[in-house]
Amino acid sequence: MSRIVYVNGEYLPEEQAVVSVFDRGFLMADGVYEVTSVLGGKLIDFAGHCARLNRSLGELDMARPCSDEELLAIHRELVARNGIVDGLVYLQVTRGNPGDRDFVFPDPDETKPTLVLFTQSKPGLAESPAAKTGWKVISIDDIRWGRRDIKTTQLLYPSMGKMMAKKAGADDAWLIEDGFVTEGTSNNAYIVKGGRIITRALSNDILHGITRAAVLRFASEAQMQVEERSFTIDEAKTADEAFVTSASAFVMPVVEVDGAALGDGRPGPVATRLREIYLEESLKAAV
Ligand code: PDD
Repeated sequence: MSRIVYVNGEYLPEEQAVVSVFDRGFLMADGVYEVTSVLGGKLIDFAGHCARLNRSLGELDMARPCSDEELLAIHRELVARNGIVDGLVYLQVTRGNPGDRDFVFPDPDETKPTLVLFTQSKPGLAESPAAKTGWKVISIDDIRWGRRDIKTTQLLYPSMGKMMAKKAGADDAWLIEDGFVTEGTSNNAYIVKGGRIITRALSNDILHGITRAAVLRFASEAQMQVEERSFTIDEAKTADEAFVTSASAFVMPVVEVDGAALGDGRPGPVATRLREIYLEESLKAAV
């Protein structure tokens, strides 16, 4: 059975799901996106992803393609039509197809946004074997643009970062700016020292992770100490443990930073506990 993809109001087999070559998402990376995980057929943190999507659109003066209720209905319809039990729903909104290439934004009354959603089936997503062994990360320069708080589809450098990590035998790269870690290529970064969870404070420098917000809330509720401040890669190398968070990795322990093993080189107790709490609580609230 071919995957069913949503494009501008239609549910189509993936071979028939197409977007114009003049779409500004294709020509200019003039688009924003969200990735929402699905566990047991239900959406995790949907309201948070919807709120961030609306913020991204607002920051770029891009029109909302439809209401939050309609977006939820489309997500659910795609999950059902594709029989997704565990996996992801990818959503992308672009400034649409003005019919030609031009740096100037098209008139929103004439050019409607493009809305595309598709699913990725990932059976056993929450039981990822990597969570038992943890990730190795390397550090690379953060040369991305200055509005990383907007979830745009400009993913070339994060993609290059993943490739640099892969080449170095690691799982991901942590991005460094002015000596401090901003975030991972596609996740937020944390270290743990003396039981305190340390992660960079929110600003335009990083994406405001939906998983981050939930994990920090659960950590506080579990009486864990959270410190929102920047940390250096040297501090990370000597941390007791480390981890990253994202909608696709949930809470993923990090066991090695630039070749330095953290603790005993295995996932630490704080990351392991936070992963359990996150999965348990998010499942309870899933829609
Ligand atoms: N990435 N930082 C960056 C740069 C990201 O791309 C992501 C998410 C996050 C974590 O955000 P959240 O917890 O809301 O997923 C942080 C998604 C998963 C992706 O690009 O596939």
